Amino acid sequence: MKESENLEIEHVKKIFQIKDVSFEVLTDIDLKIRAGEFISIVGASGCGKSTLARMIAGLEKPTDGEIKIGGKRVEKPSVHIGMVFQEARLFPWLTVEKNIAFGIHEKLPAEEKKKLVAEHIKMVGLENFEKALPGQLSGGMQQRVSIARALINHPAVLLLDEPFGALDALTRIHMQNGILKIWEQEKTTMILITHDIDEAIFLSDRIFVMGKNPGEIKKEIRVDLARPRGRNSYDFVNIRRAIYQEFFENSEVEIEYYL
Ligand SMILES: Nc1ncnc2c1ncn2[C@@H]1O[C@H](COP(=O)(O)OP(=O)(O)OP(=O)(O)O)[C@@H](O)[C@H]1O
Ligand SMILES: [Mg+2]
Repeated sequence: MKESENLEIEHVKKIFQIKDVSFEVLTDIDLKIRAGEFISIVGASGCGKSTLARMIAGLEKPTDGEIKIGGKRVEKPSVHIGMVFQEARLFPWLTVEKNIAFGIHEKLPAEEKKKLVAEHIKMVGLENFEKALPGQLSGGMQQRVSIARALINHPAVLLLDEPFGALDALTRIHMQNGILKIWEQEKTTMILITHDIDEAIFLSDRIFVMGKNPGEIKKEIRVDLARPRGRNSYDFVNIRRAIYQEFFENSEVEIEYYL
């Protein structure tokens, strides 16, 4: 990944207006993410994670501040940024390969298009399901189709907004391993929003813990552990504890009981 594709979020603020009332959802978000980095964002429901992701994707405009990729301000959705949501959002009437091909932005000859789609189907391990309709796939498989579709234009940044939230624990672990492999292969900058602390620690170079009302980055936690990471290693457990401590700060909950 080129250094020219670093992601810079500079003093971003977001205010939503509902009738006469305005809500400051995000205040002064300031992050620099290196091209090719894997970062996660964790935080309570409603703290503004999806809003931040939507602004990075160009789907929403900051009220103040700016977001730049490779020094260029993000103004609207583009092929440089892919996004995967909690639910797969596929076209139910299109086959797996057509759903994936739908995302191709470039005008390519049919043969090249076919090759590109086949490569991405292989990348997410869905060989033999090219002709299946989304309704014929499990939730995890549907989500793999949406990951392939988001990657098809080789975006500099892939935003994953709770992509595995609806999946069972075992499928999640498979998906996490899959995304790690893709990241190692493609070197895409990954921004993962998750409520699963272990998932964040397993995958990320850095984890940002957000606070709420207004949403802000409370803490940055660096995960300097070699991959693949043992989820019960001493260091892993210590990072998990640090994150929970951040969450339960000022609360009555005795976290020692829960860890
Ligand atoms: N289009 C909108 N208009 C008004 N308010 C909005 C809009 N989108 C989001 N909000 C508000 O912004 C706040 C943050 O929402 P957001 O979806 O970013 O939270 P989140 O951190 O992703 O939560 P969750 O973990 O539940 O997905 C919420 O209070 C929500 O009501
Ligand atoms: Mg959200």
